[in-house]
Amino acid sequence: MTFVTHLECARCGKLHDPGRVHNLCICGAPLLVRYDLRRAVETLLLGRMASREPTLWRYREVLPVAQDSSILCLGEGFTPLIHARRLGKKLGLPNFYLKDESQNPSGSFKARGLAVATSMAKELGIRNLAMPSAGNAGGALAAYAAKAGMQASIYMPKETPAANRQECALLGAKVVLVSGSIKDCGREMREQLKEGEWFDVSTLREPYRLEGKKTMAYEVVEELGGRAPQAMIYPTGGGTGLIGMWKAFAEMEALGWTGGARPRMFSVQAQGCAPIVRAFAKGDDRAPEWENPQTIASGLRVPSAIGDFLMLQALRESRGAALAASDSEMLAAMRELAETEGVVTSPEGGATLAALKKLLWDGLLAGHESIILFLTASGYKYQEVLETLSGMS
Ligand SMILES: Cc1ncc(COP(=O)(O)O)c(C=O)c1O
Ligand SMILES: [Zn+2]
Repeated sequence: MTFVTHLECARCGKLHDPGRVHNLCICGAPLLVRYDLRRAVETLLLGRMASREPTLWRYREVLPVAQDSSILCLGEGFTPLIHARRLGKKLGLPNFYLKDESQNPSGSFKARGLAVATSMAKELGIRNLAMPSAGNAGGALAAYAAKAGMQASIYMPKETPAANRQECALLGAKVVLVSGSIKDCGREMREQLKEGEWFDVSTLREPYRLEGKKTMAYEVVEELGGRAPQAMIYPTGGGTGLIGMWKAFAEMEALGWTGGARPRMFSVQAQGCAPIVRAFAKGDDRAPEWENPQTIASGLRVPSAIGDFLMLQALRESRGAALAASDSEMLAAMRELAETEGVVTSPEGGATLAALKKLLWDGLLAGHESIILFLTASGYKYQEVLETLSGMS
């Protein structure tokens, strides 16, 4: 079963056949999966979702996998939307929620994209997968590749948190540590691996990770009882989460789920690596590479992104914004989330609370609005940061 009609280039609009192995369009831009939503809506009814399985595969009609036997499931998706009452009271926000993505397999939201991408790779007969990763994506790829019996090669910066490196090795992936950022890892990967013998699952260089990530938005709408939130704050690196969720809101509108309501999307980056923030402030359509990227939030150490124009478009279309948080603001926010809401999140998750405070301070968000922070990964994977924060080794 698949409702996929075609793949469409996000820049030049060229159409590509579904059911075939694809990376980028010939113009160098990412491909987006399009569905026959008029047919999908016959069974994908908001009112009937409650009986479906509590994983992202509940949105099967708007996912690209054709055969059930291709699906690699470790229980990804359908993470809780936590009503943050104590912290909300402190901030004057009665409708304040945390989407706790740490509860995914491998402890981060990256499981969503890689469950779908690896399942599609299986369906298309691909055996060897490779990617550069800031940490969490590598762990997720290694897990799904292990489940599929595929070989994964993961290129990571040397500073990647130990837990990420160790889980990849334990899961049987080939781990290559590289000096520099994720961009240098990508370069090294393309130089080392032999053409035609591996498939590139880098962010947005294949069309299906985005489809897994977009399910966060479907879930939020379901969890809010069929309403779109008014604002979402998302820690942005390569941008699949942000771009995927914006795509999902367009789909949900066509499916009659949201009545056209869409949230304002806010992107948060690290002060030491903020290419999207800089481009947004300048009113640019592309975000040039950030020199010498530095931050404790390894997932945000992404100096340039192939989907930059799509992120900037989503932020502008949604009347959102892009803003930066410093490492010390992220640490303080991690502590506050832990002490008030009982959640041990990663620095990227901390960044969303730091950004929220700035938005409230600047009057860009108001107290009555429904606001969601995306806590994208577990803090337990950042032992080095937890040691600093807790003062305990
Ligand atoms: C914990 C965490 N949050 C956010 C991001 C950024 O993700 P995206 O590629 O969706 O922008 C990453 C990427 O590595 C991450 O690991
Ligand atoms: Zn194109």
